[in-house]
Amino acid sequence: MSMNVTSQTDKSRDAKPSTGGRDSACVACGGTGWLIETQGTIEKARRCDCVSRRIMEKLISNAGIPQRYSDCCIDTLNAKGNDSLRAAKKVAQKFIDDYPAVTAGLLFIGPPGVGKTHLAVAILKEIVHKTGDTCIFYDYRDVLKQIQETYNKESQASEMAILEPVLTCRLLVLDEIGARRVTDWAHDTIFYILNQRYSNSRITIMTSNFPESKLSYDKAMQTHRDLDEYTLVDRIGIRLDSRLHEMCRFVRIEGEDYRKRNIQERYGSTG
Ligand SMILES: Nc1ncnc2c1ncn2[C@@H]1O[C@H](COP(=O)(O)OP(=O)(O)OP(=O)(O)O)[C@@H](O)[C@H]1O
Ligand SMILES: [Mg+2]
Ligand SMILES: [Zn+2]
Repeated sequence: MSMNVTSQTDKSRDAKPSTGGRDSACVACGGTGWLIETQGTIEKARRCDCVSRRIMEKLISNAGIPQRYSDCCIDTLNAKGNDSLRAAKKVAQKFIDDYPAVTAGLLFIGPPGVGKTHLAVAILKEIVHKTGDTCIFYDYRDVLKQIQETYNKESQASEMAILEPVLTCRLLVLDEIGARRVTDWAHDTIFYILNQRYSNSRITIMTSNFPESKLSYDKAMQTHRDLDEYTLVDRIGIRLDSRLHEMCRFVRIEGEDYRKRNIQERYGSTG
């Protein structure tokens, strides 16, 4: 398997497997992590597959994926009758195939419930499995909140302890960018994070509810009349928006709110 072991040196929320890669429940190797192969009179030891499997599991569990999204993968995203979602899935698959030879991240933009976070998580998981890279999922509001909390006198964590994995992980998923109204401090913090990552050729995948421009806002309003009245630029400012265009390919997803559709189907809509 073509696992990039050197990437294990990346700092993450706890990227190293605490078990040394051994699986006590493994039937094949009895938990030693080694298999003995006999060729004639010669015995050779080789690593059992459970070792890399445990490393992957550890990387995934340390990635901070919310429980609700832990099973998300590209195949389970149903794009039937939705051209924009089908196109987005293709972009996602190409990104995975090309990674790590990619120079820009992705920004999935669209109304609520169309599968943006699902897709971002699915990419993260595939990249971990493909490369063994340290990948982290963060809600935009949480990263700001956690950094802010470190300013409390009683806080055990330092600002850098939160920031470092965010800055250095190979792939960062920043969910719901712009979801919180930005103060100058929040703007500068996110700008710093994204700028640092960009300068160091670190890839970032993002999602947002906010249409990128007034033009796409007017279009989105035709189907989603309950949208907030803001565009992404209103929420994050011109400078950060310009940075995003440099760092990411913008991928628009249209469609119905899957959450509503799913619930109505389950309970049997009367409407
Ligand atoms: N096309 C789809 N096929 C299968 N499941 C879907 C699809 N779209 C969304 N879902 C599921 O619906 C739920 C909502 O999707 P998700 O959270 O990815 O939407 P979102 O676009 O990120 O919405 P928001 O803007 O509110 O964050 C998730 O559980 C997701 O797995
Ligand atoms: Mg989402
Ligand atoms: Zn084993």
